[in-house]
Amino acid sequence: MNIDAAINIHDLRELARRRLPRVIYEYLEGAAEDEVTLRRNRSSLDEVEFIPRIVAGHKKADLGVTLFGESLAFPAVVGPTGMNGIFHRHADLVLARAAEQAGAAFALATASNESIETVGAATRGVKWFQLYPWGDRKVWRRLLDRAAAAGFTCLVLTVDTPVPGNRERDRRNRFAHDVTISPRTVLDGLLHPGWLWNVWLKGVPRFENLLEFVHPAADIHEIAAFTRKHRHPDLSWDDVAAIRAMWKGPFLIKGVLSVQDARQALNMGADGIVISNHGGRQLDGAVSTIQSIEPIADAVGKRLTILADGGFRRGADIVKALSLGANAVVLGRAPLYGVAAAGAAGAARALQILEEETARTMILLGCGSVKTLSPDYVSAPYQQRR
Ligand SMILES: Cc1cc2nc3c(=O)[nH]c(=O)nc-3n(C[C@H](O)[C@H](O)[C@H](O)COP(=O)(O)O)c2cc1C
Repeated sequence: MNIDAAINIHDLRELARRRLPRVIYEYLEGAAEDEVTLRRNRSSLDEVEFIPRIVAGHKKADLGVTLFGESLAFPAVVGPTGMNGIFHRHADLVLARAAEQAGAAFALATASNESIETVGAATRGVKWFQLYPWGDRKVWRRLLDRAAAAGFTCLVLTVDTPVPGNRERDRRNRFAHDVTISPRTVLDGLLHPGWLWNVWLKGVPRFENLLEFVHPAADIHEIAAFTRKHRHPDLSWDDVAAIRAMWKGPFLIKGVLSVQDARQALNMGADGIVISNHGGRQLDGAVSTIQSIEPIADAVGKRLTILADGGFRRGADIVKALSLGANAVVLGRAPLYGVAAAGAAGAARALQILEEETARTMILLGCGSVKTLSPDYVSAPYQQRR
């Protein structure tokens, strides 16, 4: 299928499935244990019904928002995802450029395969940096200094990964942070020559941001050993406060699912939160994110910028999240399907599809601007009725 013939994100996902070795596709697609939360992110979105206003007279919809003083033409952040280089060569750069083109923000992961400096220099779009609090305070400070110097404006601290989630597809495939190349993996690669040529034969992607903490030529196994050794299951609110103090710009905490933690984030001096269950990849059985938006927005929405992610595959999903109280959304797998399917053209196509769907949904809903979306436009079984 030609990339322009992909009419929705499901088509891009199918193209990605065909292009990637199974082990890699399962890493992209999979989630923790029985994948209940992965499915529930979707089923809870499907339960949200629109209540359109008729004869609302909007020729087109304004999708623009301002987040922390920066304007976005499309209310989305291409989310922080580690190991993007395994899907396509230079995928971090490709995604950052696609986001800029679409008027979305881009969040670079600590575990990216392009360095902070390379991505910083490659795009003038809105760039955020995501921190995993691995290592000690010296490591955090160093990464944050590099991000600030490279033009990243917001810091996203991810706190829902005290230990790795139990992703059984990856365990079965022996593809965790530590990649084991079995004969089956080799055969899998040979059956996907496009991927093999584009990714593997040009040198296995490295965790560029972390090399300096191990050694300059550290391979994927050595970095995996570093992250295993230097995780912080005991991360405390004092540590969060220390990170807040190290960063001068806007600060977001990613992985919030409760009103209590949203209030705590506010008390810690956060400017925003990402309501997230990590796409179902961490705590299986965690509440779906779409359900969590409205109660959290009611409690802290006037004082915190609220982002949400989890299962967004349609523009309509984005409109549902914004109606329930999110200021913008974070996209995980959707743009990754695009980049895995066809590199730059695929990443651009993913964002174009979502942008067109969002605009069309807004007109059909009878709402002219995402800034005026409200819970009045939707109904869901779990919604609090006022
Ligand atoms: C392949 C993959 C890698 C990810 N890596 C990270 C990461 O390094 N840091 C992080 O904060 N979240 C990471 N996430 C979670 C995403 O940022 C996001 O929360 C999640 O994917 C949203 O759900 P969705 O994929 O259904 O849109 C990753 C997700 C995927 C699919």
